[in-house]
Amino acid sequence: MTRMRCDRTPAWRALQTLYASSGAGLDLRRLFSQDPSRFEAFSQTAPHLFADLSKNLIDPEIERQLFVLARQCGVEEHRDAMFRGDVINTTEQRAVKHFLLRSPLPAGGVTDDPDLRAVHQTLDAMLVYAEGIRADSGITDVVNIGIGGSDLGPQMAVLALDAFATTGKRMHFVSNVDGHELAATLRAIKPRNTLFLIASKTFTTIETMTNAQSAKRWFEAGGGTDIARHFCALTSNVAAAHAFGITTTFGFWDWVGGRYSLWSAIGLPIAIAIGSQGFREFLAGAHAMDGHFRSAPLESNLPVRLGLLDVWYRNFLGFTSRSVAPYHSAMRRWPAYLQQLEMESNGKRVDTQGEALPFDTAPVLWGEPGTNGQHAYFQMLHQGTDVVPVEFLAVKKSQGALPGHHELLLANVLAQAQALMVGQADAGGQRDFPGNRPSTFLLLEELTPTSLGALIALQEHRVFVSGSVWGIDSFDQWGVELGKVLAKDIEPRLHSGDTSGLDGSTAGLLRRLK
Ligand code: F6P
Repeated sequence: MTRMRCDRTPAWRALQTLYASSGAGLDLRRLFSQDPSRFEAFSQTAPHLFADLSKNLIDPEIERQLFVLARQCGVEEHRDAMFRGDVINTTEQRAVKHFLLRSPLPAGGVTDDPDLRAVHQTLDAMLVYAEGIRADSGITDVVNIGIGGSDLGPQMAVLALDAFATTGKRMHFVSNVDGHELAATLRAIKPRNTLFLIASKTFTTIETMTNAQSAKRWFEAGGGTDIARHFCALTSNVAAAHAFGITTTFGFWDWVGGRYSLWSAIGLPIAIAIGSQGFREFLAGAHAMDGHFRSAPLESNLPVRLGLLDVWYRNFLGFTSRSVAPYHSAMRRWPAYLQQLEMESNGKRVDTQGEALPFDTAPVLWGEPGTNGQHAYFQMLHQGTDVVPVEFLAVKKSQGALPGHHELLLANVLAQAQALMVGQADAGGQRDFPGNRPSTFLLLEELTPTSLGALIALQEHRVFVSGSVWGIDSFDQWGVELGKVLAKDIEPRLHSGDTSGLDGSTAGLLRRLK
């Protein structure tokens, strides 16, 4: 499928004209006073959540032109190609079918699709296993060893759904090859009470393999013998897991990208934490968002609206980052999770043909939970020289029991979004706030497996939309390879001290580190 490059479309030129005539000078306060229905026009529901986009630097004409851009870039055809199972990850020659991991079986439970059949066979087996672990009082600690997509998603979701974790098991996540991390976890656990989940799509990632080897050595040194009971591999490379000595395995497929894999066997920690029913609800929430993305008209399609806003901000207003502010302490790994999702997917400088792009792509994503961020970097968001769009996330119904806290939390998130937009003039010098600083407000009724599933799928599809407009392959990650190759070359030099062929700085540092 050949799609027109975004900057060569008539819509791109029309957006440049709109930017020059009105877009560069948009003032949110004026837009609200001119249009009493702005909130309604720029807010909407989507499965299991509500989104207010009205405090963004956009007007109906610009948004209309962004929809034209999406159509001219073939975003709908591209989306349909993904859901059809076409090979849209062209640089790796793979289909992109993580949506299938959350597709239910058709009524009657029979499907002709061998992939969907395999998904449900694995899911059923994995959930039976998860329930077995939950019921096993001999296992008190579960240690997930994985990195990137084999860590960030499950870790984020397990923390987020803490209120639904009913097992009383302690969940640990070890990712870093820095031995301090594994050592600290090992100090807190006992071999006979521990289940290690070795999570790696490829089962070759050096950090995970190193941590897994050390965990196995520690287990055996501590008298452990029953590897089948205490080690389980989550991988698409079952042969490598067997070679490692692990016989209990749950597989997945090459059409599941690492950062899209928490719906697969990689989600086992989530299933152990919240149970099989909770995990099925998590999948159902994401599936509902898939349905919305597939069928809602672009004009009311939330992932499309968000993805196009990202394009507008990056390519026309020139914003370089987006701050993510979840006002829920259990969502503390949300920014880290989104960093991989967006920056590993869309942090690319060439198109699918390998041609260099003359426009910018993924913004930098960063953030911390509210209200903590307010007492750290919000100063810069309000009064710094850069404009950074903020994406707030708030939850209406608290699961906490302490009186007064939730109202304060909600008052703060509303106040921050309001202050960014309204600002404060004429207070004098340091006390002035320019205002007109954009934000998006995502609102969940409650943080549940279902709403979290929908929220994550929303973000996956929004990244798809901007990547699709930019014409890049959002599903490869060649940019992580060079560092891996060079680390392999450097490691033996740390022993030998050989600096031949190295640049001056690397050689100098290596001499100091030897
Ligand atoms: O190095 C990047 C990466 O390939 C990510 O895309 C992936 O999520 C992570 O490494 C872990 O890979 P694996 O699951 O194969 O160990």
